[in-house]
Amino acid sequence: MNSTPWQDETALIHGGIERSQYGETAEALYLTSGFVYESAEQAEARFKGEDSGYIYSRYGNPTVSLFEHRIAELEGTETCFATASGMAAVFSALACQLNAGDHIVASRVLFGSCLQVVTSILPRFGIEYTLVDGADLEAWQQAVKPNTKLFFCESPANPTLTLVDIVGVANIANSAGATFVVDNAFASPAVQNAKTLGADIVVYSATKHIDGQGRCLGGAICCTNDFFKEKLQPFVRHSGPAMSPFNAWVLAKSLETMSLRVDRMSASAASLAAALQQMPFVERVAYPGCPSHPQSELAQRQMKSGGSLLTFKVKGGKSETFAMMNKLNLIKISNNLGDSKSLITHPATTTHRTLAGEEREICGITENLLRLSVGLEASIDLITDIEQAGS
Ligand SMILES: Cc1ncc(COP(=O)(O)O)c(C=O)c1O
Repeated sequence: MNSTPWQDETALIHGGIERSQYGETAEALYLTSGFVYESAEQAEARFKGEDSGYIYSRYGNPTVSLFEHRIAELEGTETCFATASGMAAVFSALACQLNAGDHIVASRVLFGSCLQVVTSILPRFGIEYTLVDGADLEAWQQAVKPNTKLFFCESPANPTLTLVDIVGVANIANSAGATFVVDNAFASPAVQNAKTLGADIVVYSATKHIDGQGRCLGGAICCTNDFFKEKLQPFVRHSGPAMSPFNAWVLAKSLETMSLRVDRMSASAASLAAALQQMPFVERVAYPGCPSHPQSELAQRQMKSGGSLLTFKVKGGKSETFAMMNKLNLIKISNNLGDSKSLITHPATTTHRTLAGEEREICGITENLLRLSVGLEASIDLITDIEQAGS
């Protein structure tokens, strides 16, 4: 996807480096909030946009630019703006382009905070929404209204791993004149290129696979230069969701190993999904890379692998499910994902707790559903841990 002569893995190691006068090997960290000007005239020219240097790290910073450069190259978009968290990316990408009276169509299964933005925060500013079954193309089409300005989805969706046919929804969004924003965090840029599939804007929680080691919050908005200049830049400069240079440095270094990590996590997730299907305490497993996933054909079309996340349902209800989680030794109970450590989550009582019980059931977020983010441990150790916890 990237515009360098190199493959993505190489571009993520060498792309965008501007070495300082010291010729450092690793990328420099410019931990500075502001920048000094050679003269008052230069300061004036920067603010007028006639001099291209940095002004203030809320607007831009050399270390953050390096991270943005690498993400834009990887996604194949003209530009990228890095944010302090994934939610800052989601909120800014949506809010910067919507006005009171506009309408959003979004898939029903979304990360809890994304759902809150669509169904609770934006409506306070006069923005309407319709939630649809993300897997049903006809439902996306039916939901279009004269004031529809934006389509939004996650694929795979958090937590059920339901897929959205990104090519199909992009076509509907295009003919409706709506901007299609895809949250690609669950797949990661190593597994799915949402831009190539037709998304207009791709957002990431860099906190997940991009960091991959559970250290920094971060987010990214990948878009065109025109969208950035006309919609996003005026919004983010004044509302302030910028990424810190320190986090940008950590995340840029993490990109060097992302494909290795995600490939290994995905291979382990596939082994675990197969093993879980044989375990007597497991009712059902969902993994996009398994032929038993109801959308496995779509997964093969739009994902390079099944990814690092899977879900499974424990036979019984909440108490059996909690008992199994509490017996795990190696796998940690946490709501983060994409980490080198395998992490297990009970979405109904944590990440998706704010959904009404009925809504959770419609989405398939039952009391016995667990989401497992598969890390970099030896897969046999993870399988052994789950086996003993379920016995
Ligand atoms: C799909 C998705 N989008 C956005 C976010 C928010 O990211 P962050 O925690 O970096 O704000 C998450 C977090 O879990 C997520 O799963």
